[in-house]
Amino acid sequence: MKFKKFLAAGAGAALAISLAACSGGGAGSTDTSSTGATAGGGAAAEGGTIGVAMPTQTSERWIADGDAVKKGLEDLGYSVDLQYGNDDIPTQSQQIDNMITSGVKALIIAAIDGTALSQQLQAAADAGIPVISYDRLIRDSANVDFYVTFDNYKVGVQQATSLLVGLGILNEDGTEAGAKGPFNIELFAGSLDDNNAHFFWQGAIDTLQPYIDNGTLVVPSGQTTIEKAATLRWQQETAQKRMEDILTSTYVGTDKKVNGVLSPYDGLSRGIITALQNNGYSGTVADGFPVVTGQDAEIASVKLIDDGVQFSTIFKDTRKLADEAVTVAQDYLTGATPEANDTTSYDNGVKVVPSFLLESDIVYKDNIQSLLIDSGYWTADEVASGQAS
Ligand code: BGC
Repeated sequence: MKFKKFLAAGAGAALAISLAACSGGGAGSTDTSSTGATAGGGAAAEGGTIGVAMPTQTSERWIADGDAVKKGLEDLGYSVDLQYGNDDIPTQSQQIDNMITSGVKALIIAAIDGTALSQQLQAAADAGIPVISYDRLIRDSANVDFYVTFDNYKVGVQQATSLLVGLGILNEDGTEAGAKGPFNIELFAGSLDDNNAHFFWQGAIDTLQPYIDNGTLVVPSGQTTIEKAATLRWQQETAQKRMEDILTSTYVGTDKKVNGVLSPYDGLSRGIITALQNNGYSGTVADGFPVVTGQDAEIASVKLIDDGVQFSTIFKDTRKLADEAVTVAQDYLTGATPEANDTTSYDNGVKVVPSFLLESDIVYKDNIQSLLIDSGYWTADEVASGQAS
């Protein structure tokens, strides 16, 4: 994946001016800075350090996010302390504590547990450090300054819409395609401590409910609440195990077949697909393999979509999200007010956090080229091999 620079040229220019103004030495004085002898010597020292806390390296999107945020900030002259929390709450809390102690100028945080960081955020506020919540809303704290994310409710709508398209109920343009079912579907949700999981679920359920109510869709397991459908820490193995349990308890030994599965993340989708394959489902969606949705356009899943095995995913361009986070951090550090495009949707339990929401797209086999390859997110070779190069 190539992370092209999406930052507006103007942002870089603005920083150059402000750095020049602060340093008194001129932002371009690289000779002086290379000696390290002057106060604030070096562009990075002039900009200061920004702490970036990401949840895990087990999912490629967070690695891409971390790399892109780091590069964007470094391009503007900041140093970056990028840490991954290994999906472990105490680890992430401690990483953020350390960042605050070491005097970072701003924090960009994608939380593991959105409710677990109140203490850290209070310390950040006390130290005057702005906090940008990245992709996942940090809850239960007044000390979240800004939120950059995608329209998470809409992501859920898109996931459910693609399930309906795969089943032949809707066309890709959203018009009714005519299939009446009844179709057997099963529902998966993300990690309950991730605020996004609730938005994805709500968007999906609001979209599916009319079809459940009129009998077009049936959930044979009866597991229709987010609590039952949830997958702690978004773990692939957990989803695989739950799918296997559902097959055993509800389908094996009956003439029922699974027709579709709502999955909110590609890692879960691959676990679900493996469970289905282990239970005798084979071939492609065109041959009758269940319609499985996803999210993140992970390369292994994009290949499965290209091969006709996974039906869809949601493309959220993490390059754009990273650029937005960088722009907001830059705004705070230069005394500007970041631009929000949503000031109503994201109530974190204490306040409505001003947000900037980006748009996402549904990926089907027939638009991998236009959405993912033409935009430079993945190359044709990566899609063919299923591996990032
Ligand atoms: C992100 C998704 C991701 C999931 C699992 C969510 O908070 O918004 O893009 O699939 O976490 O990592």
